[in-house]
Amino acid sequence: MTNSSPAKLIDRFGRTVDYLRISITDRCDFRCVYCMAEDMTFLPRNQILSLEEIYTLAQTFVELGVKKIRITGGEPLIRKGALELLHQIGVLNGLHELVLTTNGSQLVTAAPTLKAANVKRLNISLDTLNANKFKELTRTGDLKNVLNGIQAAKKEGFERIKLNAVILKNRNHTEVCDLVQFAIDNEIDISFIEEMPLGIVEKHNRAEAYYSSDEIRRDLEQRFTLIQSTEKTNAPSDYSDIPNTQTRVGFISPHSHNFCSTCNRVRLTVEGRLLLCLGNEHSIDLKTILRAPDFSSEKLKQAIINSMEIKPEKHEFNVKEQPVIFRYMNMTGG
Ligand code: GTP
Ligand code: 5AD
Ligand code: SF4
Repeated sequence: MTNSSPAKLIDRFGRTVDYLRISITDRCDFRCVYCMAEDMTFLPRNQILSLEEIYTLAQTFVELGVKKIRITGGEPLIRKGALELLHQIGVLNGLHELVLTTNGSQLVTAAPTLKAANVKRLNISLDTLNANKFKELTRTGDLKNVLNGIQAAKKEGFERIKLNAVILKNRNHTEVCDLVQFAIDNEIDISFIEEMPLGIVEKHNRAEAYYSSDEIRRDLEQRFTLIQSTEKTNAPSDYSDIPNTQTRVGFISPHSHNFCSTCNRVRLTVEGRLLLCLGNEHSIDLKTILRAPDFSSEKLKQAIINSMEIKPEKHEFNVKEQPVIFRYMNMTGG
C-alpha cells in the first residue's frame, strides 16, 4: 500500500475528495429504530453490485487519488465474500487506510480475518450497555454477543477502535457517562452522534428525540474532564481527550455544528449510485457505466471526475419536518 496517486477529485468549492465510503450491502441483522423501518424490504440481487464490481470501483477511486476507504452497510460482515473483498481492497497500491464500520454482531468470528485483511481501524455501533434497551433499540440485537465481539477485536490489536453511539432523548441519553466509562475501561474511543432524519421511522418522533452534542458534553462534564483536541481531521467528529486515559470522545453534530466545509468524502451505495453528500440526493449511476457494452475504465474515471461538479456545498437537516431524504441510513452506512 504505497505510491499515492495524485488527487484528481476536487469539487467546485476546492475540497479534495480522498475518502470513499462503500456500502457493500443494504441488509442487516439488526433493525435499529433510528436507521430502519421494522419491515424493511431489501434490494433484489440483480440490482446490487457484485463483489468484482465493487472491487473495480475501489481500484478506480484509488487511481483517482482516494487514500482512505471505509466499508459499511447495512452490516457489511453479513455479505457473503465480504472478508475476501476486504483482503483484495486492503492491498490496493496507493490506499493508505482501509477501515470498517460494523454493528459488531459478527466480530467474535470475523475479528482475526479483518486484521489479516489489513483493516486498520474499526468503528463499532453501541448505543447502550443495558441488554433490554439494546434489544429495544436494535429490535433484534444481542448485547452480550456485541460485547464479546468488542473484546475479540481488542485482542487483535487494531490501531484504533471507536464506538458509535446515536443518542436519543428519553431512550438512552442517561447512559452517556456509562458509555464513556466503558470506553475508558477498554482503552478505546467513542463518538456520540446526533440522529439524522434519513428515511421515515415509526418508533419515535425525531424532533422530540433530539439530544444535542452540547447537552451530551454538559452531562459528561459532570463526571469527566474533556479537553478539546488540537488534532485537525476532516472527519465530522469533533474530538476531546480525557486526561490520563487512552480515550478520545467525539461529537458528530450534523444539526448543531455543521462540518461540511471540510468534507472530503463521497459514498457508494450497493446499487452502484455514487452519492456526493449524505444529506442530499445528488448522485451519479456508476452501475450503468460499469455494465455498459462499451465500458472502458477511462469513461468510468471521467464520469467520477465530472461528478465533482455536482457535489453540494452542505447538508440541511430539519428534524421538525418530514424527511426530505427518503433513503434510509442502511443504504449508505452513515
Ligand atoms: P471517520 O470518517 O473514519 O473518522 O469515521 P466516521 O466517524 O465518520 O465514520 P463512521 O462510519 O463511524 O460514521 C459515524 C457517523 O458520522 C455516520 O454514521 C454519520 O452519522 C456521521 N457522518 C459521517 N460522515 C458524514 C457526513 O459526511 N455527513 C454527515 N451529515 N454525517 C456524517
Ligand atoms: N442518524 C445518525 N446516525 C445513524 N446511524 C444509523 N442511522 C442513523 C441516523 N438516522 C449510525 C449507526 C452507525 C453509523 C454508521 O450510523 O449507529 O454507528
Ligand atoms: Fe444495522 Fe447499523 Fe442500521 Fe443498526 S444502524 S440497523 S446495525 S445498519
